[in-house]
Amino acid sequence: MPTEALTTAGLTPADMAGCLALSEGAGWNQSAEDWSIFFRHGTVVGIEEGGRLVASGAVLPYPSGGFGWVSMVLVAAAMRGRGLGTRILHRCIEALRQDGLCPVLDATPAGERIYRPLGFRTQFGLTRWRGLGGGDVPPGIHALRADVPAALDVAAFGADRHFLMAELLGRAPANAFALDNGFVLARPGRAALQIGPLVAESEAGAARLLDAALAAAQGPVLLDLADRWTGLAAHLRARGLAPERPYNRMALDRAEPFGDPARLFIVAGPELG
Ligand SMILES: CC(C)(COP(=O)(O)OP(=O)(O)OC[C@H]1O[C@@H](n2cnc3c(N)ncnc32)[C@H](O)[C@@H]1OP(=O)(O)O)[C@@H](O)C(=O)NCCC(=O)NCCS
Repeated sequence: MPTEALTTAGLTPADMAGCLALSEGAGWNQSAEDWSIFFRHGTVVGIEEGGRLVASGAVLPYPSGGFGWVSMVLVAAAMRGRGLGTRILHRCIEALRQDGLCPVLDATPAGERIYRPLGFRTQFGLTRWRGLGGGDVPPGIHALRADVPAALDVAAFGADRHFLMAELLGRAPANAFALDNGFVLARPGRAALQIGPLVAESEAGAARLLDAALAAAQGPVLLDLADRWTGLAAHLRARGLAPERPYNRMALDRAEPFGDPARLFIVAGPELG
């Protein structure tokens, strides 16, 4: 079928199998629980061909910060280079702009090729690290069992997303830790436990929170560290984790970051910000 005849439509949780096939096909880590976040709190759009989902995109409007997230921009390998990714992206931008929100995303190098021509500008770089959990919880770190200190996340990230913090805490309570003015969360994914967000006041505090999250993790872990934290990158390397791929945090027509990047160490993930 010519690509022009394919239409972009809203998706529902009934499309979950097609969504998972796209993210698994790209080797991504998202589980059905992750996709559910977008169905419950945002909007998911997709393009079908012959009854099969061949492209997806999602938006997650964040209240209070003036911006929203663009996620899960995926095109089935056989359908790439035919404009579907760009079409999905236009829909996502439109959805956020209708709510008066600036579209923000974490771009893979492949994604950047379609985002940059549309006006997305780089705010800062991130690196995906992968390895294994283990080690000991450092002294002075305590388990986070009840409320996430959401105000710390708002200050670092730039928008109120307490609904998300509560959900992440519920998904992996044993991997959540805090110290004065800092916390770390994690969540199980398809192939690895994803650690993040990690908010702290100093790189030393962040390293201690990270050690606690790694100590509580069994098996494969991954995390997305902002590139400015070279000390923490060296710490990860010394612990046997390895850099896997770069991302760029980008916003439409805006290079100035939201929130306070001096307190944001590990992001929640490219799909959540
Ligand atoms: C990134 C992705 C969504 C792009 O989808 P797509 O449907 O191929 O994008 P489009 O066809 O709209 O591409 C627009 C332009 O970029 C080019 N392009 C897209 N991906 C490219 C790549 N990986 N390498 C080189 N060129 C690429 C296209 O040729 C096209 O160029 P043109 O407009 O000058 O002809 C798709 O490659 C994909 O799913 N990749 C894996 C998942 C991923 O990284 N998603 C991005 C998350 S941030």
